[in-house]
Amino acid sequence: MTAPSLRQQLFRRKPVSAMVAETGGDDGGGGLARRIGPLQLMSFGIGATIGTGIFFVLTTAVPEAGPAVIVSFVIAAVTAGFTALCYAELASSIPVAGSSYSYAYATLGEVVAYGVGWCLVLEYAVSSGAVAVGWSEYLNQLLDDTLGVRIPDALSAAPGAGGVVNLPAIVLVTLCALLLVRGASESARANAVMVIIKIAVLLLFVVIAFTGFDSGNLTPFAPMGVAGISAAASTIFFSFIGLDAVSTAGEEVRDPRRTLPLAIIGALVVVTVVYLLVALSAVGAQPAEEFEGQEAGLALILERVTGSSWPGILLAAGAVVSIFSVTLVTMYGQTRILFAMSRDGMIPSLFAKVDPRTLTPVRGTVAVALFVGLLAGFVPLDFLIDLTSMGTLVAFTVVSIGVMVLRRTAPDLPRGFRVPGYPVVPVLSVLFCMYLISGLSGTTFALFAGWLVLAAVVYVTYSRKHSRLRTPSR
Ligand code: ALA
Repeated sequence: MTAPSLRQQLFRRKPVSAMVAETGGDDGGGGLARRIGPLQLMSFGIGATIGTGIFFVLTTAVPEAGPAVIVSFVIAAVTAGFTALCYAELASSIPVAGSSYSYAYATLGEVVAYGVGWCLVLEYAVSSGAVAVGWSEYLNQLLDDTLGVRIPDALSAAPGAGGVVNLPAIVLVTLCALLLVRGASESARANAVMVIIKIAVLLLFVVIAFTGFDSGNLTPFAPMGVAGISAAASTIFFSFIGLDAVSTAGEEVRDPRRTLPLAIIGALVVVTVVYLLVALSAVGAQPAEEFEGQEAGLALILERVTGSSWPGILLAAGAVVSIFSVTLVTMYGQTRILFAMSRDGMIPSLFAKVDPRTLTPVRGTVAVALFVGLLAGFVPLDFLIDLTSMGTLVAFTVVSIGVMVLRRTAPDLPRGFRVPGYPVVPVLSVLFCMYLISGLSGTTFALFAGWLVLAAVVYVTYSRKHSRLRTPSR
């Protein structure tokens, strides 16, 4: 037998049947436990998606689009919806832990999958660090509003951001790690409670803001025209990131081929309805020109309508709970993606070791917590936010292409869900993602290129040699 060429090595694909067999099939038995039900999974998607964005985004997006920000929300929802549908199809045909990393391995080959795996570190690990930093700010605000105390800057900000260490962010990461090692269904239950609280806080906002609704605030409806509406849609897209986290639970849900697409689409619908209600009630309650530069936008709207200051406390508390669950689910997603990469030999085996008692990857979770905790505690992460969007959008693009490839290469594969309007939806999904990528800055592109160079070095020196597809018998 002749040795495979470099091209064959780089683009070797992992058969879907082998992936599914490793998980122990739809009944489990592959290491992780199938304990998560459809509602819990849907709240995973909501938990990862409704986070910091909706609490901030109107103060940037309304000045861009005016009251037509509602249309921008619809555009961002449709874009997120296209990719969510693509995720739903692949998750229902390849129900494994690795999300887009695994889908790329089945469709576009090893080197693309590996690159996607590194993009997912930006989407999950780096963003959980950034989100934990946001949590620390809200916690301080809540302490200030309720008790009149603040954690000193030295202990609540990273070096470079005016402090020595961001202790609250490290505490949050540790709490999430403790929950995650206890068990996936325990984490899912805690997340579900937090999701109910965050939706309740936002719906309360909607109800109160609607009592101050003045249709006069909706005119002129689109003062900046189409350009303003589309700029605001790009800004708002960040608020819709997170639905794909559902697919990282592919090996831990019951009846995955049905549950995964249901949860992704259910979460998309809930998130979109909540966001549209928040946007409509907010622009109805406050003239568009007053949004610009407001720091705690939603709280100010409630103060305006009610004439009292308690809404600030309520919304800060809502944000503290909300961001906790984003951090929990994104850290969860990262451990499961690394689990899949490690099982394939792409990274060291410690990430795929499952604790026999809790049936969770305990060591992998500790390693992820250390990485995220160090980032959140000691690195000023603001400048990495766009890098997170880049990683996410590249992964989304690969998934949308993957749907089309898999329809051609494995037309008869059982699919619990099929993208409607095929091939228009995946093609539009690719185009929308590319459009959003094209709006990112040159610095982001340069940093991303550097990240991929690092990935390439690790691939050549480690992963290529340890790939299970090279030595399947190991
Ligand atoms: N969609 C998440 C948020 O808005 C990232 O915080």
